[in-house]
Parts: sequence; structure tokens; C-alpha cells
Amino acid sequence: MFVLNMKITAETGNITNIKEDLIVLLTDEFKKNPYSGNLGSLVEQPMKDAEFLGHDKKSFSVHTLGKLPAKRVLVIGLGAKEKIDLEKIRRVMSTAINVAKSVKAKSMSIEFPEIDADIKELTCAMVEGLALSNYSFDKYKTEDRKEKVNIEKCTLILNSKFSKEIGNVREQIKESVIICNNVASCRNIINENASIIYPENFAKIAKKLSGLKVTVFDEKKLAKLGFGLHLAVGVGSKFPPRLVIIEYRGNPKSKETSVLIGKGITYDTGGYNLKPTGYMETMRDDMSGAACVMYTVKTLQELGVKQNVIALCPMAENCVSDRSYKPGDTFISYSGKTVEIGNTDAEGRLVLSDSIAYSKIFNPSLIIDVATLTGACAVGLGNNVAGMFTDEDDVALHLMTSSKKTGDRIWRLPMYEEQREEIKSDIADLTNSGKSRYGGAIQAAMFLKEFVPKGVKWAHLDIAGPAYLDKPNHYNPKMGTGFGVRLLVEFFRQM
Ligand code: BES
Ligand code: ZN
Ligand code: ZN
Repeated sequence: MFVLNMKITAETGNITNIKEDLIVLLTDEFKKNPYSGNLGSLVEQPMKDAEFLGHDKKSFSVHTLGKLPAKRVLVIGLGAKEKIDLEKIRRVMSTAINVAKSVKAKSMSIEFPEIDADIKELTCAMVEGLALSNYSFDKYKTEDRKEKVNIEKCTLILNSKFSKEIGNVREQIKESVIICNNVASCRNIINENASIIYPENFAKIAKKLSGLKVTVFDEKKLAKLGFGLHLAVGVGSKFPPRLVIIEYRGNPKSKETSVLIGKGITYDTGGYNLKPTGYMETMRDDMSGAACVMYTVKTLQELGVKQNVIALCPMAENCVSDRSYKPGDTFISYSGKTVEIGNTDAEGRLVLSDSIAYSKIFNPSLIIDVATLTGACAVGLGNNVAGMFTDEDDVALHLMTSSKKTGDRIWRLPMYEEQREEIKSDIADLTNSGKSRYGGAIQAAMFLKEFVPKGVKWAHLDIAGPAYLDKPNHYNPKMGTGFGVRLLVEFFRQM
């Protein structure tokens, strides 16, 4: 599978003196050619031809024809200076990668843009934009159809204004490469077949992660503990359910522990409330929450972040068989509350609720769950934004700040008391799916809230929109995006 095979380094110097397949310059808007010397005369005419004034998203590339040591130069516009942010830097890096591939460049150098940003944050954005764009899942392409162009080396160039920062930049590159490798691993297991990533195999992958304590509960243990909802979802599949617990204690002296819970449905057919054609094909991604929390914890460990974080991954496959759970059945949850099954396709909230209630044994101060939970959330917020639900304003602010910094976009949605009506049942304490379609994402969040241990802060991220893309979006490729890893890593680093 994919590995981050592009080496990213930093050097000081003047980019126009570098012998390279491709050199990349980033510029904000200008009125007349800002470049002088050989570079200036080289780009003068092509700049006019392309009507290039450094506007946002515009770029052009030219062969240097021996006027510079490099073979080609690419100039990318960043737009108005006051509108340049880190997300724009990440996004233009995908332009650089795409051009490098189209001209078959094996190596490229990119000059640090002179913008108003912290040098480490800028480095982070550049590395993330490059590394995350340079991903493709080509395991199932035969050799001759695999992408042949490989960018082997990418150098970030600091001109004389920045050269004293080289140490900081190199340190940041190391950290960002760790983060991007984990995002890539997350994408890999989302993109992989559900016939390979089933609950037991997910547990095996977790067990192979070095430096973390991993405990796996099988179906017998789950039955003993009373995980009635989790088991109900998983019973219809030949792949039995698992609870995977991944513990990272980065601050053993502290009693504070956070629990992350990720929805781990390795395939969601909908069950007896079967999904129609057109809605099922991407459902191997329904374990994106579990993949996200697993690789978040792995990243925290590799970076040595001083926090105690435990990931719970309730894994199951939602299938149709003679054993499957049925609409109208009622089950007893781990918490003791009973749940009527209004719809077997609302399975995510079932597996999550048992884990949310169980997390009490870790005495957490904060629980965050991550789930591809509702189509309604994707309809409401689109493909690029996750829904955030929490009653805690401080947690919401902290998550929002991390979101703005990383570009893993989220938006807060409400949980008003009156919306609880929708999850009431006539025959049990709750139903997993009420009669109304309105506010589907909120209903799901309200359901989860019922299982949060008293006095514990909780936030829920519905990543149904951004977890998986039908077409590439800047540095996020088609299919699994690894959404949430960078968001949560940043969240814990700033805690
Ligand atoms: N896994 C789906 C949600 C989903 C839909 C994720 C589209 C990504 C893209 C979830 O299990 C589901 O089917 N939810 C139902 C809930 C409904 C039956 C109450 C939905 O959203 O339709
Ligand atoms: Zn479902
Ligand atoms: Zn699902």
C-alpha cells in the first residue's frame, strides 16, 4: 500500500541558483513583474500571455531554456495578501504536486513565500499540502496502469530573510511528516476492501502499532460485559464484532484522561433496512471514525504529546443474514437503557452508545466520538465540513480553533431539549430512529448524549461528509481522506 515516498527537506539559498527539475515560486498579487534578472526576463512574456498577476488559484509554468539552472519554473498566485492563510498554502501545494507530475519532475524546490505567518505553522502547511496531495491508492491497479511519475525529492528553500529559521523548519518537517504518514495510513485502511478490513483484522492492525497498549474484546467478552447494542449490530455478519481499546499514557503523572471513540462499521449494508443502489457503494468507509481515532492516538505517541488518551473502536459489520437484528427488536444496552430498533441502518449510534457508556471505567474528563453517522449531516454541511455537537462551550471553542488551524473543517450544530422527542419509544426507553426525518444528524447526537456518563464533558463529530470524497478536493484525494486525525492531534497538542 501507499507509503510517503517523497523526501521533504529544507535548505537555505537562492532558488534561482538551484539545479532542479522544477522550481516553484509563490507570489501574492502584483501590478508589474516582481522578478528581476534572468528569472524576470524569462517569465516576462509567459506572464503576459497567461494574464498572470498573482491572483488566487492562477499559475503558469515555463521551461527555463537554459536561462536558469533549473529545467522548469512554476509560479503560483496566492491572491490578495490579507486573504492568504495556511489553508491556501496547503491548497496551492497540491497545484505544485499536480504540475510536477504533469511535467514528470522527479525533484522540485519550493521557495518559502514572504507572508505574514509563523514560520513553523507555514512549514507545517507546506509539508501537509505536499505530502497529503502526493497520495494515491493504487493497490488494485495493474502495474501498467499505476501512476508512473514519482516525485522523489522536495526541498523547501529559505532565502536570506528566513535562513536563521532553518533549525525550526527542519524540526517542523519531521513532525509534519509523522502526522502525514498517519493520515496516509488512515486513508489506506478506509480505502481497503471490507473483505480485508473486518473487525478482527482491524484489531490485528491495532495490535501491530508499536508503543501502545492494545486490548481486544471478542464477542464472548462483549456478551459477558453486556454490550447488547454493539452485539445486536454485529450478529448478522460472518465477521464477529470486536471492541479495540488503544491506550496511550503520555502523561503518567496526571490523572486526566481523554477518551476518543470511533465508529467502526467495516461495512454498512443498512441491514434489513437495506440501503438502495447508489447509497451502499462507499460504505466500506463507515469505519473512518475508528481509523481516525486509532491513528490520532498513534500520532500523539510518535510525537510524544504529554496527554493520556485512550481510543475505543467498536467494530462490527452491518449485514443481512438469517441471524441479523431486525426492525422492531428491542435490546438492552451496556448502560442498562433499552433501545427499540426503529431502523437497522441507524447502527452507528448503537455501537457507539455502548462504548460511550463503557468509557466510564477509564474515569475520563472528556469524551470525543468521531463517526460517519448520518447522511443528514452530509446533506446539511456538504462534503468538506463535519458536524460538531457538544454542550461544552470551551470544548467547542478548542475544537474550532484546532479546525481553523488544520483545515479539517467543522461547524457546530445544536442539541435543543425539544428535539429529544424524536428518540422516544413506546415500548423501550429509546428508539434508534424516530418517525421524523427532520434534523436527522441532531437526533443521532441526542441519542448518543443519553449514554454519556454523568459529569463528563462530551463532544460528537459527525464526519459523514468529509470522511470520503467522490472527487479530489485540493490536497484531499478521491475516497478516504483521513479527516479528523490532524484536527484531533492539534486539539491534544494545544490542551
Ligand atoms: N453510515 C451511514 C451514514 C452515512 C451516509 C455516512 C452517507 C456517509 C455517507 C449511517 O449508518 C446511516 O445509514 N444513517 C442513516 C440513519 C437513518 C436510518 C436514521 C441515514 O443517515 O440515513
Ligand atoms: Zn447505517
Ligand atoms: Zn453507518
